[in-house]
Amino acid sequence: MSQAITAETPLLQVSGLTVRLRGLQDVAPVVDDFTLNLSRGESLGFAGESGCGKTTAALALMRLLGPGLELSRGSVRLGGAEILDLGEREFDNIRWLRVAYVFQGAMNAFNPVITIGDQIVEAICRDKSINRARARERCQDLLESVGIDGKRADAFPHQFSGGMRQRAMIAMALAANPDVIIADEPTTALDVVVQSEILDLLNRLQVDRGLTTIMISHNLAAIAMTCDKVAIMYAGRIVEMGPVEEVLGHPSHPYTRALTAAAPRSDQDFRAIEPIPGAPPRPDEPRAGCAFAPRCSFSKKICTTQQPELRLTKGVRVACHLVEEL
Ligand SMILES: Nc1ncnc2c1ncn2[C@@H]1O[C@H](COP(=O)(O)OP(=O)(O)O)[C@@H](O)[C@H]1O
Ligand code: SF4
Ligand SMILES: [Mg+2]
Repeated sequence: MSQAITAETPLLQVSGLTVRLRGLQDVAPVVDDFTLNLSRGESLGFAGESGCGKTTAALALMRLLGPGLELSRGSVRLGGAEILDLGEREFDNIRWLRVAYVFQGAMNAFNPVITIGDQIVEAICRDKSINRARARERCQDLLESVGIDGKRADAFPHQFSGGMRQRAMIAMALAANPDVIIADEPTTALDVVVQSEILDLLNRLQVDRGLTTIMISHNLAAIAMTCDKVAIMYAGRIVEMGPVEEVLGHPSHPYTRALTAAAPRSDQDFRAIEPIPGAPPRPDEPRAGCAFAPRCSFSKKICTTQQPELRLTKGVRVACHLVEEL
């Protein structure tokens, strides 16, 4: 069902998205009540420790969940139109064409015996209206747009450095000129200099093409460099979301505070880094109230019995019973 579209309608509207372990209704969802809006050209970072549901939330937007997981409820609107209700064939006109995904570690997943150019051409030809000759030209343009000489299209993956493979992977995601691009840990496994080149590239693409971007990263500095907004995820739920300077500069939620205190900064003595004790709960571990309570030094009785909802406080959404006191 479509809604009335106005100039203010966000490009991407996600509401109540909930993903469960398949067939296990009694254990906590892997992604719980995930809700956000993104306008055209906006960039959002997903941060949080490993296992907090960042990848699963993003894959659910593409309807690419693994066999052990199921979408239990929620809505995803693109340009005002619901896309979760579409049949698989109709959804094929959305996936890759309007929303593209750079998978974690994908730069190492190029087929080693096919040239980079041929693999990008294949991705361009997902759009059936483009013939191969045109796709070849477009492949060269795409490579140039990510900072690779178009003549290198004939190279095999092993002839590219890690940074170049990641650029080529981003070019591949741009193949069909999507509105939204999701990049899952795009700089993990790259050295620091190359990381910052990839982040600059993502920034430039976002501005030049008006792309809406979602960047998943456990690296808060990378999110601060590339994103307008950030959503901090813990145990499958967004616990804090708002403008990146506000959330990372003046974190409100105890988990965001702990994450920022645990993040290495170039201007800081590494001895000042405070690791967060313990680990996030697995979906099958029993829990009550706030999932962060066992690790939270501010926890009170209410925290162990009632789950805090996301509430808007001073321009930032925070899910913590004590946000005003803290
Ligand atoms: N295909 C799957 N089947 C079962 N459990 C999964 C599957 N994918 C992820 N999970 C579980 O969902 C939780 C969230 O995982 P994930 O989304 O990969 O987190 P993150 O990206 O934040 O590290 C983890 O507990 C993980 O073990
Ligand atoms: S609700 Fe309670 S336990 Fe959860 S983060 Fe806030 S203070 Fe800590
Ligand atoms: Mg992940």
